[in-house]
Amino acid sequence: MDQELKPTVDPDRKHTSLASFMKMKTENRKIVMVTSYDYPTAAIADSIGVDSILVGDSYGMVVLGYENTIPVTVEELLPVCRAVRRAAAHPLLIGDLPFMSFQVSAEEAIRTAGRFVKEGGMEAVKIEGGREVSKIVESISSIGIPVLGHIGVTPQTATLHSGYRIQGRNFESHDRLVEDAKTLEEAGAFGIVLEMVTEEVAKVITETVSVPTIGIGSGRFCDGQVLVLHDIIGLYPSFTPKFAKRYVDVAGLIKQALQSYAVDVRNGDFPEEKHVFRMEEDERAKLDSKRKI
Ligand code: KIV
Repeated sequence: MDQELKPTVDPDRKHTSLASFMKMKTENRKIVMVTSYDYPTAAIADSIGVDSILVGDSYGMVVLGYENTIPVTVEELLPVCRAVRRAAAHPLLIGDLPFMSFQVSAEEAIRTAGRFVKEGGMEAVKIEGGREVSKIVESISSIGIPVLGHIGVTPQTATLHSGYRIQGRNFESHDRLVEDAKTLEEAGAFGIVLEMVTEEVAKVITETVSVPTIGIGSGRFCDGQVLVLHDIIGLYPSFTPKFAKRYVDVAGLIKQALQSYAVDVRNGDFPEEKHVFRMEEDERAKLDSKRKI
């Protein structure tokens, strides 16, 4: 493996603990969170110093090609969590509890969250929902597993209702979102993801709750930001949301590389001399003489 993909060993750099993650809000330092679903990208994210990695259920869409996040299972996500864990020593690692892995009962939610910690190596879990999941947030956090809330657009259920509609456009929706955020904080959430919430409402929530807000499509005033890795690097060809910023066209780079490879193979220009393995000289001489007979 390329040396550069290994986690950077920086003696001065500390692991982002839950306490330091939360302190960033009071110190007015923006929190950088990104999703990752494999060893190499988690190692790169770690090496450039992201504060937190989310193993999101978006994995189901951007890696497995599902139409939405509903089909993703715990069994699919746990090996992904382990790969990220092996790569990333410094960021706070958060695993996303998939649809129907936590809703049925507090007991089931605790069991699932426990698996993400024990089998997946995660340090916290994220669950989607507002007041309707507050008892579940309370149960998981009361046994010592930190929970990140997620309100606004909640993709696991949005697809069952109205789709991805921006939240917080009117006053009624403002009140509901602020109440949801306060309820999650009271239930013990250590932070709250705000997805596709209007900037005005995201600002009010950020000023109202004492835990960090992590925005995705929710404007400039959240305490931190999260984006899906594939949107940042341009590796999800189907769709790039308006709120995401694409920094590089990795899909284009991969396409170029594969096209060049295909041309080289077809023209006989790959492999070259430097790519081949050869026999020992004396063994080769034996082979040559045998073939002459
Ligand atoms: O699954 C995911 O990637 C997420 C983020 C978009 C917050 O939930």
